[in-house]
Formats: sequence, C-alpha cells, structure tokens
Amino acid sequence: MNVTIAKNAGFCFGVKRATDRLEAALAARRQGERIYTLGELIHNRMYLDELKERGVESTSMSQVTALAESSGEQSPVTVFVRAHGIPKEDEAVLRQLSLTYPHFRYEDCTCPYVKKIHSIAASNGGEDRFFALLGSASHPEVVGIMSYFEGPKFTFDSAEQIERMAGDGKLDDFYNSMPVLAVQTTQKPEEWKKSQKIFKKLYTNPLIFDTICSVTESRQREAALLAAQCDCMIVIGGRDSSNTAKLYSICKENCPQTIWIERPDELAVHNLITSAHTRVGIAAGASTPSSAIQEVFNKMSEKELAQNTDIMEEDFASMLETSFKTLNTGDTVTGTVLSVDANEVKV
Ligand code: F3S
Repeated sequence: MNVTIAKNAGFCFGVKRATDRLEAALAARRQGERIYTLGELIHNRMYLDELKERGVESTSMSQVTALAESSGEQSPVTVFVRAHGIPKEDEAVLRQLSLTYPHFRYEDCTCPYVKKIHSIAASNGGEDRFFALLGSASHPEVVGIMSYFEGPKFTFDSAEQIERMAGDGKLDDFYNSMPVLAVQTTQKPEEWKKSQKIFKKLYTNPLIFDTICSVTESRQREAALLAAQCDCMIVIGGRDSSNTAKLYSICKENCPQTIWIERPDELAVHNLITSAHTRVGIAAGASTPSSAIQEVFNKMSEKELAQNTDIMEEDFASMLETSFKTLNTGDTVTGTVLSVDANEVKV
C-alpha cells in the first residue's frame, strides 16, 4: 500500500500567522495576564483543548466589555481576533475598549487575504451598486466581509441559487445597479466560475473581484488530483471548518471512498481501510496542525496498514517541511504588492 500526503496539507499561511502570534504572546505572557480568543482561533479540537490547558479561553463580543472593565495592571487582558476576521462594528468596539482601558488590548490576526476583501467591500459601496458574495451566509468570514459594504447586498451559496433568484424575479430590483461580485476565500473555483458566467449574462458591466484564496485553490486542486489516483482518501480537519468541508466534497467526487476525521483517534472507527487498498491519500484542512497529520500517518503504520509506504520518494518530515514553508527575512518572492504600512508589506 502506498500512502501519499497532499503537498499543501495542514496550516495555511493565515492560520499559521494567527497561531504564531498567539504562541509569541503566550511565550511573553506576564504573571496575571489573561489571554482570550474571540471565538475559536482555529477549527481544530485538539489544538483548542491544548490552548485551554495552557489557560487560553474562547470569548465572545458579548463578553469583551466586561473583560475590559475587569482588566488592570496586575491582570491585563489580551483578546485575539482570529484569521476569519470580524464585522467592522465589532472591531470599532474593540478599538474603543483598548483606548478606554489601558490594560486591555486586542491583536487583530485577520488573514491578509480576508482583509483585502474587507477593503474591496469598503471601497466599492454605493446606492447605485449592490454587493453579491458567493459564500455561506452564517460563516464568520462572510458576516465580517458583508459588514464592510455600504449599500444593498446579499449572499448566495451556489450558482444554482443565483439562477433561481433571477428566475423568481428576486434580482429585479437590482437591474439598474452595478453588481460588485466577490467570493468567500474557501469556495470551490468551479462554483465561482459558474456564478461569474451567470452575472455576466445578467448584467453588462459587473465589477468582479476574484477573492478565492490562492492557498485554498491550490490545496483543492492538489487534493482532487491525489484523490483521483487513490482508492481511499482520508481528509483531516474540524467539523466546523468550511475549507475542510470543501476539501472533503472534492475528494469524495474523485474518490468515492473518502473519509473525514477530525482527530487521528477517529481512524480506529473507520474499518474501511484495508490491505486491499493499494493507494491511500491524506489531505488536511487549513486548520489542521502538522502533529495531527503525523499522528494519522503513524497510526496507519502502527496498524501495519502502510506496507511499503512510498511518500512521493521523500520522508514524511522533509515533505511536511516543504508543505509548510514560510517566508523568512532575506527570502525573495515574486508577487503583486497589495499594501504597504510601517510594519509589513502584503504581497
Ligand atoms: Fe487566509 Fe487562505 Fe488561510 S484566506 S486563513 S490563507 S485559507
């Protein structure tokens, strides 16, 4: 049996950036300092349990004012905003609290890709325009993005839904407006392409912003290719993770025997993988730590399922190292500069 791990399995750039900042704050934590995450920092139970053990609690907007009021010199409070981002009204509340209470601060770990969509939504508003976003209406990233557009707006979750809306006359009110079209970072490229086609048919000049995260896109493409070559696929990631859900459905389309596990120990309940399988693939969502991927791999080995394991002629450690490559000072990259400020250049 060959076991292959998808090249870009595990933490994406945005999640790694958020967890690195939290880890740095934990390493520098002063006695008495309380650290919170606004919602679950990432969709991974193992990591969240570990954070809890280290004294990091999840909080919500309804609790932040009380937290700020309770902060003091001996018990400062730091709240981390996760990679999905938050609505602009919530950010305004956090900013105001940090100005009012000197021992309360927040760290905005919104992924730069998501920030970019915030600025697109914020700078393209207007009553003669409307904003349509392909995404899951209740997903925190989508809720955050929608808050930045001033003017008529709605979300839709598929090309089929937008076609239905047009057929039912639900877009009639918008025919004299210019559509500003964007997409949640983790949506499937195919659905996005179909949606754009429909908008181009319905409107002469739609303003289209391709905001699918390139990390997600390449992850999905690689997972599809790998799944098509495997007779069994294991997808690792949180049940609440939108990008893992997409990854799972893509793998399932290409390999009917695809299983979705959140934790490595769930592998035991799936007796589907047997030595009859000749090639097993492993893909993982953007919030899956490398330790979980390693553990799944180890478990398969322990069960002696992974005979003659061939991981693309590389050992696990070096493959993982490659897939998690991050930029270091002095590295050279080619890309489009999105913004520059005193602390960072977003490419
Ligand atoms: Fe950011 Fe893309 Fe990850 S939007 S959080 S790098 S999946």
